[in-house]
Amino acid sequence: RGPAPMSPTGADTGADPADRAQSGAYLTTAQGARLHDSDHSLKAGARGPVLLQDHHLREKITHFDHERIPERVVHARGAAAHGVFRGYGTASGVTKAAFLAKDVETPVFTRFSTVLGSRGSSDTVRDTRGFATKFYTEEGVFDLVGNNIPVFFIQDAIKFPDVIHAGKPHPDREIPQAQSAHDTFWDFVTLHTEAAHHTLWNMSDRGIPRSYRTMEGFGVHTFRLVNAEGSTTLVKFHWKPRLGVHSLMWEEAQIINGTDPDFHRRDLADAIEAGAFPQWELGIQTFPDTADQTFEGIDLLDPTKIVPEELAPVQPVGLLTLNANPSNYFAETEQVAFHVGHLVPGIDITDDPLLAGRLFSYLDTQISRLGGPNFAQLPINRPHAPVNDMLRDGMHQTAVHRGVAPYRPNSLDGGCPFLAGADTGAFVETPVTVPEASKVREAPASFADHFSQPRLFWLSMTPVEREHIIAAYTFELSKCYEQAVKERALKVLANIDATLCSEVAVGLGLPAPRPTVELASPQPSPALSQLGHSWPVD
Ligand code: HEM
Repeated sequence: RGPAPMSPTGADTGADPADRAQSGAYLTTAQGARLHDSDHSLKAGARGPVLLQDHHLREKITHFDHERIPERVVHARGAAAHGVFRGYGTASGVTKAAFLAKDVETPVFTRFSTVLGSRGSSDTVRDTRGFATKFYTEEGVFDLVGNNIPVFFIQDAIKFPDVIHAGKPHPDREIPQAQSAHDTFWDFVTLHTEAAHHTLWNMSDRGIPRSYRTMEGFGVHTFRLVNAEGSTTLVKFHWKPRLGVHSLMWEEAQIINGTDPDFHRRDLADAIEAGAFPQWELGIQTFPDTADQTFEGIDLLDPTKIVPEELAPVQPVGLLTLNANPSNYFAETEQVAFHVGHLVPGIDITDDPLLAGRLFSYLDTQISRLGGPNFAQLPINRPHAPVNDMLRDGMHQTAVHRGVAPYRPNSLDGGCPFLAGADTGAFVETPVTVPEASKVREAPASFADHFSQPRLFWLSMTPVEREHIIAAYTFELSKCYEQAVKERALKVLANIDATLCSEVAVGLGLPAPRPTVELASPQPSPALSQLGHSWPVD
């Protein structure tokens, strides 16, 4: 079930949201008047014209006409479940976040998704998967809005409309609907080489997960944790599935797309219904919060880079168990609104420029997707902590606010509600020093290396995983119409690995080009050649 009904002022409304729509033994109008017939329109004689005065017909059809809301602009297709998160207490040295303390149990709602397909697309397409979790903590809502791939296509949010426009269906024919196999996608990711790392993960078995239950999740960005003493630590969040990481074979994925497009959502719902509750450990990689925000030469503000687990092991901090299916897809899975800016004391942001744009984008898009600024009042979005804000009115306001003075300072209505000090549970931004600088539109030099980490990923693959990657690039690129795009894609692959490039070139019937860049970092040492692949791989 969703969170208990509560008004935004924290007062219990006393009504189960379901009762507002479906209570009493009789079928009624929306106004509660009992109906004696909902199967026939009102007509002038059994074979005569339908009468405009049939207010029940008009209510029924008008409401139906407005049943749909816009689908998400990305991540439109998803499936979700309720669950519980239990903190291990192992993070308490680095964060004061109450929900991470030992044995604290917090209700959660997790939504998995594909990125590019529309709401009615197939589950087992090659794509990145979303992995978003809402923690209804006693200190307010915390959302961890991540993906199943630890890096992103772009380093700066201003490129997000570009990468999504390139990946979504063509504006003229609206094809292809859900897969990356088309010219605009490949055009973008080969012109914009910082996308090479994410694209390589997509072309690997990670792009076709076997089940949501066997996916890892990543917060991608570096976040900043703050402990009770005010000390800060930089972290990356990881979800590790208890069932291990498993993928589909490409051929399996194709057959399933045809025979059961709902494969992943069915698998999740069936497992939960059968009592086989999927579990993930939440883990953190920790890094000292140094002035340059780098670790072992890796820029922690660059979302196209990982930190290998050999350099910074993932430390488990809690356990997520998904144990209940939503009772209504629309009310819960469709109306849930995640936001990277939903933070609690002890978890703060960094200056990753991709994260900065996300902090703006989620609230903005949800105002249009969910019809105005009051969607936090929807049952699935309501915090379990008491809410006492000064936000008033607006479309779809369902709270009845009292008093006349929703402003600060005021001397009416008994004065203002208290403001909490940092020591009494307030969220206080970390006083990070901003270096003196001029305004510029440019990326730091440390963001310029686009190939050494893709190469690291490629070298960490087993022979069969490499075969799958070569087959994936060959298949996807063979679908491009433009020869120039294919040739440019081979140039990118040449900068990652000569064998990868030449094998794909053979598959495409094109010559293999030579690399155009020197790798910025030295060849990975054997110790660095694994990205923490200790999990079973199908
Ligand atoms: C939705 C992850 C980058 C804008 C989502 C969702 C996930 C996600 C998991 C689905 C949420 C749900 O289930 O409802 C990520 C990750 C990113 C990233 C991991 C990079 C590390 C961005 C950027 C922007 C953006 C850079 C914009 C500047 C959006 C929007 C939605 C969305 C507009 C739809 C939200 C809604 O309608 O509720 N993202 N995203 N994302 N994302 Fe991102």
